[in-house]
Amino acid sequence: MLPQYKFNDTMQLPSYYDVISMFDSGAISSLDWRQLCYNKESPIFELFTMEFVNLLAEYLSQRVEAYYAMQKQQVLILEIGAGDGRLTHFLRLRLYTLIPGKVQIVATDSGLWKSIRPVFPVESLDYRKALKIYQPGIVLCSWMMYQRDWTAAIRAIPSVNEYVLIGEMDEGCCGHPYRTWGLSSFRDREISDKKDGNFTPLYEMNGFQRYNLDEISRYQICRSDWPDSRFHSKTVSFLRETKT
Ligand SMILES: C[S@@+](CC[C@H](N)C(=O)[O-])C[C@H]1O[C@@H](n2cnc3c(N)ncnc32)[C@H](O)[C@@H]1O
Repeated sequence: MLPQYKFNDTMQLPSYYDVISMFDSGAISSLDWRQLCYNKESPIFELFTMEFVNLLAEYLSQRVEAYYAMQKQQVLILEIGAGDGRLTHFLRLRLYTLIPGKVQIVATDSGLWKSIRPVFPVESLDYRKALKIYQPGIVLCSWMMYQRDWTAAIRAIPSVNEYVLIGEMDEGCCGHPYRTWGLSSFRDREISDKKDGNFTPLYEMNGFQRYNLDEISRYQICRSDWPDSRFHSKTVSFLRETKT
């Protein structure tokens, strides 16, 4: 039986420490957690915590400041596959306070997954169309669909300085292990990925470098975490090399 705790409160995010203490005290069992995350009405992939969103907003505000200084114009952050719009909503509240006027953030989703309904503003757009329409500076994607790679389309947009992926990385269940994360053991034979005779991840071939944002990832809780086995999801940034 789940404790009376509002995991999907629309006014505030759950505290990381509250949830962890419920795990540690046994107030949430593995079965409770599974039932909560896999419920059909409002499934949870990433449980966005207050601490996680605050740190991500601080990170993004620093990035925006750098791009703003270079380009002298408002930076657009685009979330694709945004589900119910929760992440963008709470990031917006923080970002518009931290760096007013310098940033705009928009949530989009194709609506393909009917079980996920917008709770906060989400524009109904396929990720490819959203990228073309918005020409963003920064792209966010939380829990990209398994075995799909949306990152090639992101990198092909010249305005994109950086994209940030949230969820299971590498061999996990978000994106494609080779096309998204660059794991050579999963490479596609048809793609030529050799530079100087050595294997190079596709993102590097396209001029991006990968940075694991470990300080932010410490505050993540996701559906594949169990009370006794955690840290399955992470936050990873891919930065275009030629810019800042
Ligand atoms: C695993 S869910 C993740 C939802 C949300 N980002 C989260 O972390 O809770 C994947 C989302 O991608 C959306 N989606 C699927 N195909 C899409 C497409 N071609 N363009 C944009 N969104 C898409 C689905 O509707 C769904 O909301």
